[in-house]
Amino acid sequence: MNKILEGDCFELIKDQADNSVDLIITSPPYADIVNYGKDISIKKPDEYVDWILPLFSEIYRVLKPSGSFILNINDNCKNGLRNTFIYDLISRNNKETKLKLYDTYIWHKMNGIPNGSKKRFRNNTEFIFHFVKDQKQLKFYMDRVLEEPAESYRNKKIKIRKTNKQVDSTGSSCDEFVEREVPLLVRPDNVFRFATAGASRDNTIRHPAPFNKELPEYFIKFLTDEGDVVLDVFSGIGTTGLPCKDLNRQYIGYELNAKYAEFSRKRINGEDTEQYVINQYDLEDNFIRSWNTITEIENTLGFDSHNHIEDCIRKGNKTSYGYKWKLEKK
Ligand SMILES: C[S@@+](CC[C@H](N)C(=O)[O-])C[C@H]1O[C@@H](n2cnc3c(N)ncnc32)[C@H](O)[C@@H]1O
Repeated sequence: MNKILEGDCFELIKDQADNSVDLIITSPPYADIVNYGKDISIKKPDEYVDWILPLFSEIYRVLKPSGSFILNINDNCKNGLRNTFIYDLISRNNKETKLKLYDTYIWHKMNGIPNGSKKRFRNNTEFIFHFVKDQKQLKFYMDRVLEEPAESYRNKKIKIRKTNKQVDSTGSSCDEFVEREVPLLVRPDNVFRFATAGASRDNTIRHPAPFNKELPEYFIKFLTDEGDVVLDVFSGIGTTGLPCKDLNRQYIGYELNAKYAEFSRKRINGEDTEQYVINQYDLEDNFIRSWNTITEIENTLGFDSHNHIEDCIRKGNKTSYGYKWKLEKK
């Protein structure tokens, strides 16, 4: 079953039964950053927590006790300083809802875009927060995400301290070590390395901030079983629905923008056959060349304003960097 519902997730989720969802994975609009269409309000950092927390309470209600809520979110900088609303969100969630913070992961964006500041490092990370309803009942299959150890550990032996303390000839306690081979597969660390979707040459170009499919796929694999229900409350163009289809999970998506909802239905059913490119024109409308992704433009031309070019594309003929940019069929 794949179900994309068009509407406001704060309302739609009220119709979802208690304890009925195995995994909620989502990336909400980040405070103040990207534009998703004229009727979709983007909250400012100081309004953000009040806006989103009621949704967290509903998420708690609909999650099964074994379920997880994976939240991908990021902050930004304003007036030279980094916002702190994400820390407020985590802290207020602890006090005001029953969802529990199980862990924090970092997503290292392998192709993060540059920024122009000489006094700030490039921002190549985002947060992924893992919330649960009941950590004792949590469904979690580590064996499905084991990884090869880092190169320097492969085929090596390591010393491991014995858990029971030994006593030496003087009667003092001492540590005893045993040597073990490094296993062929080990637990992953808590930094996930996925490229952004902008790096892939597909129709994700039609949405300003889609997931890379690998991100939801990873969490779906180790947190759910076949037949389980996966919900993305800010579904966008339905990227979470793609691995659900491949891995035989039931997908529910909520999306406020009708165009994205409509496109995501086609995309999940494999009907998004029209490929789009970004065409670059000079100010006299002479065609210069086609680009597959904004990331490709930025990496090649050295621009560093992802959102700016996105805005031009969606608003039509507006210019940026002395060019016109249009999203057109290939
Ligand atoms: C960061 S994007 C999610 C992209 C998605 N992960 C994907 O791969 O396509 C956030 C989405 O939330 C949608 N949105 C914003 N407010 C909403 C609301 N109240 N209810 C449902 N969707 C909403 C926006 O239109 C946007 O598509």
